[in-house]
Amino acid sequence: MSDRTIPRLGLGTFGRTGDQGVAALLKAIEIGYRHLDTAQSYNTERPVGEAMRRSGLKRGDFFVTTKVADTRLDSAQFMPSVRASLDTIGVDQVDLLLIHWPSHRDMVPFEDYMSALVEAQQRGYARLIGVSNYPIALLEKARALIGGDALATNQVEIHPYLQSPKLTAYVRQIGLPLTAYQPLAKGEVANDPVLMRIAGKHGVTVAAIALAFLMAEGHIVIPASGSEANLKANFAARTVVLDAAEMAEIRTLDRGYRRIDPEKSPRWDD
Ligand SMILES: NC(=O)c1ccc[n+]([C@@H]2O[C@H](COP(=O)([O-])OP(=O)(O)OC[C@H]3O[C@@H](n4cnc5c(N)ncnc54)[C@H](OP(=O)(O)O)[C@@H]3O)[C@@H](O)[C@H]2O)c1
Repeated sequence: MSDRTIPRLGLGTFGRTGDQGVAALLKAIEIGYRHLDTAQSYNTERPVGEAMRRSGLKRGDFFVTTKVADTRLDSAQFMPSVRASLDTIGVDQVDLLLIHWPSHRDMVPFEDYMSALVEAQQRGYARLIGVSNYPIALLEKARALIGGDALATNQVEIHPYLQSPKLTAYVRQIGLPLTAYQPLAKGEVANDPVLMRIAGKHGVTVAAIALAFLMAEGHIVIPASGSEANLKANFAARTVVLDAAEMAEIRTLDRGYRRIDPEKSPRWDD
């Protein structure tokens, strides 16, 4: 119950909707993926639950994350939305429940939805709780409100072109792992010459090098793919070990290139 470990390599499920989504998820599970990242807004909660059941594996073999949409943070909708997520996935509890985005311009008071998140955990709807798209200022505010150890992760955009050094330094200091979303910059890293050279040396794909780099930096990664070859290549990142010179070289690729920056974004640190 007190195990706060989040599997280092998970599967992003954005786009894996409907029957095709279930088939792709089953393929990923066959390859070995057990950590599945869904959200109320992805339309993938049902396929995730369906694939888990059809896989023949036990509920305890999986680590499932879902996220409360920023349109459901108010007190009338928050808890019913979490119960609906559990029903849709078909589980009694998710392993990790995140706030998907902080409320834009505090339309819903921060205290309200952070307290609701803790309450969802106390009710047993979530084994672990965390946040997504939170900058340092909001992490500090959350820690002051619900305690320094309450959160298990902050899920944010991180890839070789957006390494977020300020946020990364801060979370290391407080012992909070980041979960890197769009860890492949939606496939854009695949043509990087530095990563290609390192990949050639290791005899693996560029994507595997990018993911191995992020994990070596201490992050959890959740790449997505609908292709069996790419799912396998990404899963192979778990066994890639980069040396200090390779790590240093990949660190120089950071260019603060942010792909996801909607109007509702908080003020980012990097
Ligand atoms: N918390 C948030 O606000 C938030 C925001 C965005 C995403 N996320 C989560 O993060 C997950 C991952 O993000 P994402 O799906 O947007 O981006 P991503 O994982 O960086 O990239 C997925 C794209 O890269 C391609 N790709 C995957 N593996 C590849 C490989 N080995 N070589 C070349 N190309 C490859 C995929 O194409 P193929 O399908 O053809 O392989 C797909 O187009 C999402 O599914 C979601 O769960 C969270």
